[in-house]
Amino acid sequence: MPAKPVSKTGARSTPAQPSAGKPSAFVADLATIRARARKHIEDGAITDSYRADREAVIKLLNEALATEIVCVLRYKRHYFMASGLMADAIKAEFLEHANEEQAHADRIAERIVQLGGAPDFNPDVLSKRAHAEYVEGTDLRDMVKEDLVAERVAIDSYRQIIDYIGDRDTTTKRLMESILAQEEEHADELADLLNGLTGK
Ligand SMILES: [Fe+2]
Ligand SMILES: [Fe+2]
Repeated sequence: MPAKPVSKTGARSTPAQPSAGKPSAFVADLATIRARARKHIEDGAITDSYRADREAVIKLLNEALATEIVCVLRYKRHYFMASGLMADAIKAEFLEHANEEQAHADRIAERIVQLGGAPDFNPDVLSKRAHAEYVEGTDLRDMVKEDLVAERVAIDSYRQIIDYIGDRDTTTKRLMESILAQEEEHADELADLLNGLTGK
């Protein structure tokens, strides 16, 4: 409920009198909301007021899930294979990113279930559905470069997902926005690492 307006001196302004029609209209509406909520209880968190195309959102989220899992695998490979003078600091970054991509995957899978879908973890089709690629990389610089490319792919595709969903499913939109913000951080960190490795 919004706070009552407070003047600069701290005194509350006189509350407006409730209009005669509104409270009863809200009560009637509440009765409809309650009745609808009971009707399809097997839909869990998804009610009749859900305005997005649920199947389409689930499909997009499964593509994002595949992207995250491919990113976990690529970062893990890079973490274990990193060697050379700068390897220790960069290994720590690879591991941190792997763990954060795993957390993204978990949050996306959870949302898919809330929407009544099934998260697709089938390894046979993961890399086909993923937007980002699994590239092993030949040396430290190459690994960082491939990770940066993958992050930039994820940033672009997540932004498109957010634009598509718009305000029709604000929970999924907020989820993808928070993941996008972290992918941007990852890309920024990798760009800094890549600059430090140039010419080595
Ligand atoms: Fe991620
Ligand atoms: Fe990332």
